[in-house]
Amino acid sequence: MLEALNPQPQDKILQLIALFRDDPRQAKIDLGVGVYKDATGLTPVMRAVKAAEKKLWETETTKTYTALAGEPAYNAAMVQMILGSGYADRAASVATPGGTGAIRQALELIRMASPAAKVWMSNPTWPNHPSIVKYLGMPSAEYRYFDSASGGVDFAGLMADLDGVAAGDAVLLHGCCHNPTGANLDLAQWAQVLDLLAARGAIPFVDLAYQGFGDGLEEDAAATRMVAARFPEVLIAASCSKNFGVYRERTGILIALTSPDRKAVVQGNLNYLNRQNYSFPPDHGARLVTMILEDAALTADWKAELEDVRLNMLSLRQQLADELRRATNSDRFDFVARHRGMFSRLGLTEAQVATLREVHGIYMVGDSRINIAGLNAKTVPILAAAIAQVLA
Ligand SMILES: Cc1ncc(COP(=O)(O)O)c(C=O)c1O
Repeated sequence: MLEALNPQPQDKILQLIALFRDDPRQAKIDLGVGVYKDATGLTPVMRAVKAAEKKLWETETTKTYTALAGEPAYNAAMVQMILGSGYADRAASVATPGGTGAIRQALELIRMASPAAKVWMSNPTWPNHPSIVKYLGMPSAEYRYFDSASGGVDFAGLMADLDGVAAGDAVLLHGCCHNPTGANLDLAQWAQVLDLLAARGAIPFVDLAYQGFGDGLEEDAAATRMVAARFPEVLIAASCSKNFGVYRERTGILIALTSPDRKAVVQGNLNYLNRQNYSFPPDHGARLVTMILEDAALTADWKAELEDVRLNMLSLRQQLADELRRATNSDRFDFVARHRGMFSRLGLTEAQVATLREVHGIYMVGDSRINIAGLNAKTVPILAAAIAQVLA
């Protein structure tokens, strides 16, 4: 039976990681992989996570199963962090293995409820979005998103494409810190998009993987909150991988907003999907997140460290934009300072990206997405000089 299987296409980012690992040059720079790194290149365990783990080790008395939807305290704390108060009667939710698990469950929920519904995704988007949609055999469509000339959002293109959304289609929107481009809608543009989606009868599906990495924990939730307040039905897939630094613990949540009288049925369907796919969701990361969010001192320390992470990325952005201005003698890359989150798409060609890798030992994804957190004060000028050289 197994000989009937065909090789799967390699994941481009995983391929890049392998190439980087095998590169013997000392001065190589990894801007490919999507994890936060501090100035020493480490992806640290956050202080509050360490403290919660210690406390958990001391106090945990059983590892028996939790609830199918995850611990209610985790779900409540996450709904509060993402949406604020006032959603208890509308929010069905399940804990999931990371943000990816939440995206997968959301798509399966859409397919179960409405098999003909199209899933609209930005072009470009995180490659795993279209990959999972395709795997599930769901109809899909793209909307324009990025203007490579300006490094900003192609808002006219986006609105023109979303004009074609049909009633009941699901529109996947990055809640903040768009991956891979780094370009984001402002709140006035969000309002226009939501007017259009409401007029078309679409279902907003928000992927929130970087809350706290852009303009701040509250600020990064503002668009998602606008969606939640406006639409009767909303799907939100959120990840704790980045903002709590618990990547490998697989900690995420799917929130489905519905009407109070439909909540129990929607919740039952979310539980059912968890049961079919992996039964009980992972608990360790979710428990740490709950302990942090329920303890004022741990929350304060976590927020302070998250803010340091955010400000570090912002200052690297500013430094890179300044260095690129000097090195290229142009304002072409000023958008890097305006982008938010961990990534920026630089707008280089595949050939230029290959030259940066082969000649300069600088690794970025083929579409010229860089991980800002892969830089530090010393490597920013090296990157700027190398980019100026490949452009010359
Ligand atoms: C846009 C986006 N959504 C979701 C995720 C899911 O993250 P995880 O499954 O690691 O929590 C990521 C991670 O890279 C992402 O970039």
